[in-house]
Amino acid sequence: MLGFAGEVPEPGDYVLRMLGRDEVVVVRGEDGEVRALHNCCTHRGTRLCRASLGNTAHLRCSYHGWTFANDGRLVGVPALRSGYPPDFDRTRHDLPTARVACRRGFLFATWDTEAPALEDYLGEIAWYLDAILDCGAGEWEVCGPPQRVRTKGNWKIPTDNFAGDGYHMRTTHQIALDQGIYGDTLADGTRGRAGTDLVAVNIATPAGHSVRAGYVVESGLSLEDRDLTAPQYPGYPPERWAELTAAQTPEQVRFTSHCEVAHGVVFPNTVFLSVAHDRAVGEDTDPLTRYLVVRSHVPVSARETECLYWTLAPTAMDTEWRRRSYRFQARTQSAGGILFEMDDFENFARIDAALARSAPGRGGPVDLTLGVGRSTPARGFPGPARAEVATLSEHNQRAFYQRWSTLMGELP
Ligand code: FES
Ligand SMILES: [Fe+2]
Repeated sequence: MLGFAGEVPEPGDYVLRMLGRDEVVVVRGEDGEVRALHNCCTHRGTRLCRASLGNTAHLRCSYHGWTFANDGRLVGVPALRSGYPPDFDRTRHDLPTARVACRRGFLFATWDTEAPALEDYLGEIAWYLDAILDCGAGEWEVCGPPQRVRTKGNWKIPTDNFAGDGYHMRTTHQIALDQGIYGDTLADGTRGRAGTDLVAVNIATPAGHSVRAGYVVESGLSLEDRDLTAPQYPGYPPERWAELTAAQTPEQVRFTSHCEVAHGVVFPNTVFLSVAHDRAVGEDTDPLTRYLVVRSHVPVSARETECLYWTLAPTAMDTEWRRRSYRFQARTQSAGGILFEMDDFENFARIDAALARSAPGRGGPVDLTLGVGRSTPARGFPGPARAEVATLSEHNQRAFYQRWSTLMGELP
C-alpha cells in the first residue's frame, strides 16, 4: 500500500513512497489519474525527485536535464536534435509506471503485471475494511502527511504483533492500562469498565490477512448476548451513533457494535487499528474517543523497518472531534506515542538484537501455539472467513507466517 488518494488531491500533487525496493513518485497527473512512477532517470539512473511531497508539473533530472511530465512521459531532452541520432525514440525512455489501484481512497500498487486484481487480492479482508469504514458514515479524511519512524527489527515483527497479539497487553502495556487508557484497572489487575469483559474474535484468511476484534460485553455474557437492537459504538458520541452507522448493513452492525478495538493486517505489511481510548494520558478529561490508524511497515533492510502512520477521521465529525481523535492517536500509537509505541518498539529491538546474535542455523525461538485447541468458532459471526472466539490466541499470527512461508517457498 502506497498511501491515500487524499494525500494527492490536485493535479501535480505528489508524495514519495517505497514500492518493494524501488522508490516511486506517487503523483496525480493533469488528467486526474494517480500514477506511481519509478523515481529514477531513464538516462543514467539519477534519483529524480528528492522532496518527500509537493506539487509539480514536471520532474527534471539534476544531472543532464532530461525532463518528464507528471504522467511519466519523457518530454524534454537537451540537445535532442543536435546531439542524438535521428532515430532516437523519446517514447522508449518514459518512466516505468507501476500498476496502481485505488479502493475507498487506499492506494495499492505492484510492478507485477500478472498479479490478481486488487479486489481478488484482498478477498475476505475487504468485507472487514468496509465494515470499519462504514461505521463512521463512510467518508474519511487523511489527517496530514503520515508520521514516519524507523525501528530496529524485521518488518514481520511489528506486523505479527498487529495481526492479533492480545497476549502482550498485560506485560508490555501495563503502564498504559495503569494510566486508565481503557478505563479503570479492576481489582484483579485487569483493565476495563467495571462489570464488563473484553471478548475477542480472531479472523484470519488463507491469504494471510487478519482481523482481531475485541468486544465489550457485560461480565459473564457472550458475544451473542449483545443487545443488537440497541447497537453501541464506543468512541463516538452516543447521540451520533444512529447517523454515523445509518448506511451499515445488519451484518456490519453485528461486526461493529460494542467493538472497542479492531486491528489486523492486510498481507503483507499494511496494518490497521480502530480503537476507543478513555484517555490519552492519565489526567485527560476528554470523552472516550476513537481513532483509526493505518500503517505501512516498509522494510529498509532485514533488520530495520520504516513505519508510516496515517490517521483517518470521518468527515461527518466536526473539526474539533477529528483533532481530538488525531491527538489520541499521536499520543499513543505513533512515532511520539508515549504509551504503546515506545513499549512495543523496545521489545522489537530486543528481538532483533537477540536473534541477530544467535548462531547461524539455530533459527528463532518461535512459538505460535497460543490458543490452539482452546478457541471456539464464533457462532453466527457475520463476516467471511473463519472466526474464532479466544481472547488470547496466535491464530492470526499462524495465518500470517503460513502465508509468508508459502510465498518464500515458491521463490526460485
Ligand atoms: S541521468 Fe538524468 S538526465 Fe542524465
Ligand atoms: Fe503493543
